This record gives sequence, structure tokens and C-alpha cells, in this order.
Amino acid sequence: MMMPPLGLALWLLLLCPGLMFWKPQVNQNCNNGRYEISVLMMNNSAFQESSSDNLKNAVNMGVEIVRQRLISDGIYVTVNATFIYSEGMIYKSTDCRSSTCEGLDLLKQISYEKRMGCVLMGPSCTYATFQIYLDTDLNYPMISAGSFGLSCDYKETLTRLLSPARKLTYFLVDFWKVDNLPFKTYSWTTAYVFKNGTESEDCFWYLNALEAGVSYFSQELKFKDMLRGEDQFQKILTDQTRKSNVIVVCGKPNIIASLMGDREVSEDIVIILVDLFNVDYFKDNVTAPDYMKNVLVLTLHPENSASNNSLSQNSSLVSIVYRYIYGHYCFLCQG
Ligand SMILES: *[C@@H]1O[C@H](CO)[C@@H](O)[C@H](O)[C@H]1NC(C)=O
Ligand SMILES: *[C@@H]1O[C@H](CO)[C@@H](O)[C@H](O)[C@H]1NC(C)=O
Ligand SMILES: *[C@@H]1O[C@H](CO)[C@@H](O)[C@H](O)[C@H]1NC(C)=O
Ligand SMILES: *[C@@H]1O[C@H](CO)[C@@H](O)[C@H](O)[C@H]1NC(C)=O
Ligand SMILES: *[C@@H]1O[C@H](CO)[C@@H](O)[C@H](O)[C@H]1NC(C)=O
Ligand SMILES: *[C@@H]1O[C@H](CO)[C@@H](O)[C@H](O)[C@H]1NC(C)=O
Repeated sequence: MMMPPLGLALWLLLLCPGLMFWKPQVNQNCNNGRYEISVLMMNNSAFQESSSDNLKNAVNMGVEIVRQRLISDGIYVTVNATFIYSEGMIYKSTDCRSSTCEGLDLLKQISYEKRMGCVLMGPSCTYATFQIYLDTDLNYPMISAGSFGLSCDYKETLTRLLSPARKLTYFLVDFWKVDNLPFKTYSWTTAYVFKNGTESEDCFWYLNALEAGVSYFSQELKFKDMLRGEDQFQKILTDQTRKSNVIVVCGKPNIIASLMGDREVSEDIVIILVDLFNVDYFKDNVTAPDYMKNVLVLTLHPENSASNNSLSQNSSLVSIVYRYIYGHYCFLCQG
């Protein structure tokens, strides 16, 4: 399903009907101490489990926290969230593949109805966000709980709440170089990357970035190859002629269970499981099953993860909105 960036761009242009470059004429509802955050309630989401009710509750709770913080700092302004639904539109699918035009359509709707707030909580799908920046001259801030792909990098007005793919590649390159950890006493220069084609949205873009020949990861390693499908993965586990002992996999532990089963694995094999937003690892008394023996998990501490993020006191969304109102909004802070 992945296409090279140029192919993708052309394909997208063909796909959003009647649309050339579009400059939104926006009257922002953002003055006289009145701050409004416009939330695009999209049918396509990077997170299959998130319903629009969840999102609405989370944003409302976040706004409430911001209000309380502002009051306790003696700043009396109105902070509101408005939710914009794609009514009557034909976005039936809920995964990101059909999301390209939904964000744009919503954005047009907002601008025709003059409902634009100070800041936009935009799409979480990389395609949708990419398309918005491709086709519009977006000069107000946008927050995204996703947009993981490299094609959403370096957008001045975009703040991504969760770790984008670029951040992951930089971390992995640094980690490959490290040689002074108790469990890693020499640096690595090679890797295999497992890609099955059935990954979740975040993993899709993470693996996409590791695969891309132009990415930092690919350029820093001496050898990198993709393992496509379970067969190729399983063959490498005992292959005497393999060129790397490190395999990057993205997903939850059950992916390892189904890949490894009771298979024989060479002692030297290390699997790096990228599973950033899973809080299970931090629960009390978790014990690693046998199949996790060769696996190092890369994850985020729950405070930084997506789980219940919008509800927690210190969530990124809250602090971004808060900073925005305070006037030292930092577009590039979260990279
Ligand atoms: C926004 O705030 C104003 C003033 O507090 C309030 O009257 C209005 O109902 C709010 N709108 C929404 C959508 O919350
Ligand atoms: C998403 O699509 C489903 C199925 O067509 C529909 O029932 C639902 O109302 C849509 N949700 C939104 C937010 O548009
Ligand atoms: C890999 O993809 C196949 C379908 O193409 C699926 O049946 C299988 O469960 C996937 N394996 C993993 C480990 O995700
Ligand atoms: C975790 O294990 C310890 C020691 O085995 C036990 O005392 C404790 O109750 C366990 N905690 C939970 C939440 O199961
Ligand atoms: C999310 O956070 C709220 C408030 O902090 C808490 O009541 C709720 O149980 C949490 N939900 C989950 C699924 O952890
Ligand atoms: C939020 O941040 C403050 C300081 O920045 C810290 O003291 C507090 O424990 C944090 N709260 C949560 C729920 O993480």
C-alpha cells in the first residue's frame, strides 16, 4: 500500500476532486480574550480504538484543566473547544488509507462557516495532514495526535503530540552506536527490519521511515535489509549466512509470539520491539513470557504515552494549549 512520495503526491492530487492549491480565507475566532480550539472530528483515525466520544471527552477535560490553571494564575479568558464533524460526507472507512481528503473537506467547511478557532486539532492520519499542507497555505497552528510519517516533518505550524518517525530513527541510530550499557557493550552497524504489511498506523510510518533509503537510519548503517512477511523473518532466525543479528519489529508482544512460536533461535539474535504507546510493561508484577527472551522492548513511560494522555494533568495537549494562550507557543518543541 506504500507508494513513493512523488507517486503518492500525484495520486493524492487526482484523488481530491476539484482541488488545486487553496488558500483558506479564515476569520479566526481568536480575540478579545476568547480562545477557541477547533477539533476536527474525523472518521479516519490513526487509532482504531478511539471513538469520537472518547476524543470529545478528552478534549473537554483538557480544556477544563487549562481553564483552571489560567484562573489560578489570575488570567481571565474564555477557552472553548468546538467540534467539527464530517456530516454527510462519504468517509465510511475508519483507517487512515481513505483519509486523504477528509481533513481538507473539514477545513473548507470550517472556513466557509467562519468557525476557525485559534488553533486546529487536526487529523491524526499522516495522509490527511500531508494533504492539508500540500494543498493549503496553512498559517495557523495545528496539533496532531499522530501524523507520524516523514512527509509531515518540518511543518512550521504543526505540533505532533506523539513521537514521529523521525524521532524514532534518530533514537535508534544513537542506540545502535552506544557501547557502554550493561546489556550492550559494543556498537551495531547493521539491521534487518521486519515488515509484514499488516501494521498499525504508527508502526506503518515507523517502519516506512526505517525502510526509506534516504532516511537517517538507512544512511548511518553499513547494512540494512527488509524482511517481508513471516517466512523471511523465520528463515533469518537460524540462517548461518545472515548479515545482521539485529531485527527491528514494530507491534505488541503478541506479534513476537506469533512470529517465534517455539522456533529455534540463534543465541546471537536480538529483536528490538518498537511498542511505544503500550503501558502494559509498567504494570505491577509483569513477567516476560519465554518468547520474549531475545527481545528488547522500546517503549515510552506511561506519562509520555498515548494512553489516557489527554486526561492526565500534564498531558501534552493541555500544556500546548496552555502555552499557546500564554503566548509562548513553541511550534517545533515536539519536533
Ligand atoms: C464558549 O464560551 C462561552 C463563554 O463562556 C459560552 O457561552 C459558550 O457556550 C461556549 N461555547 C462552547 C461551544 O463551549
Ligand atoms: C463514520 O462512519 C460511520 C459509518 O459510515 C458512520 O456511522 C459514522 O457516523 C461516521 N462518523 C463520523 C464522525 O463521521
Ligand atoms: C502477517 O500478514 C499475514 C497476512 O498477510 C497475517 O496473516 C499474519 O498474521 C501477519 N503476521 C504478523 C506477525 O503480523
Ligand atoms: C506482586 O508480587 C508481590 C510478591 O510476589 C506480591 O506481594 C504483590 O501482592 C503482587 N502485586 C500484585 C498487584 O499482584
Ligand atoms: C484515565 O484517567 C482518568 C482520570 O485521570 C481515570 O479516572 C481513568 O480511569 C483513566 N482511564 C484509563 C483507561 O486508564
Ligand atoms: C505534573 O507536573 C508537575 C510538575 O511539572 C509534577 O509535580 C506532577 O507530579 C505532575 N503530575 C502528574 C499527574 O504527572
